[in-house]
Order: sequence, then C-alpha cells, then structure tokens
Amino acid sequence: MKFKNTSISFLVMLLVFVACFWKTEAQRCIVGRLRGQDGTCNQENDADCCSADEEYPTNTCSPPVTGNTRAVLTLNSFEAGGDGGGESTCDNKYHSDNELIVALSTGWFNKSKRCNKFVTINGNGRRVKAKVVDECDSTMGCDEEHDFQPPCRNNIVDASRAVWNSLGVPRDRQGELDITWSDA
Ligand SMILES: *[C@@H]1O[C@H](CO)[C@@H](O)[C@H](O)[C@H]1NC(C)=O
Repeated sequence: MKFKNTSISFLVMLLVFVACFWKTEAQRCIVGRLRGQDGTCNQENDADCCSADEEYPTNTCSPPVTGNTRAVLTLNSFEAGGDGGGESTCDNKYHSDNELIVALSTGWFNKSKRCNKFVTINGNGRRVKAKVVDECDSTMGCDEEHDFQPPCRNNIVDASRAVWNSLGVPRDRQGELDITWSDA
C-alpha cells in the first residue's frame, strides 16, 4: 500500500514537471521592459511617442492563434515618411496605404513565417482579407527605426487605411478596434 502511494505521487510529480518543461520549451516567451527615449514621432495616425520618463513592456510571444483570434486593430501607414517607420520587413519596400496590408505583433509574425500570407479580419460586422507585409515589433521600440514609438502590444493587427475602409469604419473612428482574425 505504502509503496503504491509513493509511486503514484512520484508519477504525478513527474507529469507536472514534464508538463511545465514542455510549456516552457513550446513558448520560450521573453517578457521584459525597455526605457523610452525622447524623439520625434509621426503622429498622423494618433501614434503615441516614447518618453524618456517611461518604461514600456516587451514580449516575444502573442496569444495562441485559433480560428478566431482576438486582437486589437490599429492604424498604420506603410508609406515612405509615414508612421510605420522603415520599409516593410517582408520585402524591404514601402507600400501604398490603398493596399490591403497589415503588420502583426512579433509573436504572430512568427519570425517572418506569415510574410506574404493572407489573414482574414472580422470587425465592425464585416470581413476583409489582407496580406501580412510587416512586423509590429513587440520586442523593440523607442528608436529611429521604430519612429520613436513604444514596442507594439503583443495582440496587434496594425492595418493600412484600406483595411479600415473595407471594414466600413468611418475615417473619424479609425484608430483602435476590437477584432478577430485567422489565417486565410
Ligand atoms: C510559427 O510557425 C511554426 C512553424 O510553421 C508553427 O508550428 C507555429 O504554430 C507558429 N506559431 C504561431 C504563433 O503562429
């Protein structure tokens, strides 16, 4: 009897250990904070500029992707001189804001694996397909490459004007919207 109980406890402990280890291996999430620095940021799309007085959270992971992943849609310009910073990561080019394109938070961008793939975005009672062309960097920010904007939150679909228009959101309400998305 005593032996049996001990074996069972041992087995349970082993399972818990393996489960924890597995999770860490699978996600490898690095969460941190970075200190802002002052710089000039393009505020045409109501972007927040970094401040040297603040710290900003960073995260290499995003929430798990399902057929209906919740996210926050934000507005981004992918044009030269726009608030998107440099060229898009997937093709090293600027893009017209008339294209149906998005940038995804670092975890969802998945080391470029979603580059040039399409996602379906559901929002405002409508649906639109858009191409992934860039990363919304959740690990770095507050420097020139990121237009002195803070790191991206880890649940962002950062979309062109065209995506917002296709969802039928009036221009004066474009900026931030709860949506769901999936791989198309
Ligand atoms: C990233 O890509 C790998 C390989 O294609 C896939 O197994 C994994 O689920 C992807 N992760 C996310 C968060 O999309």
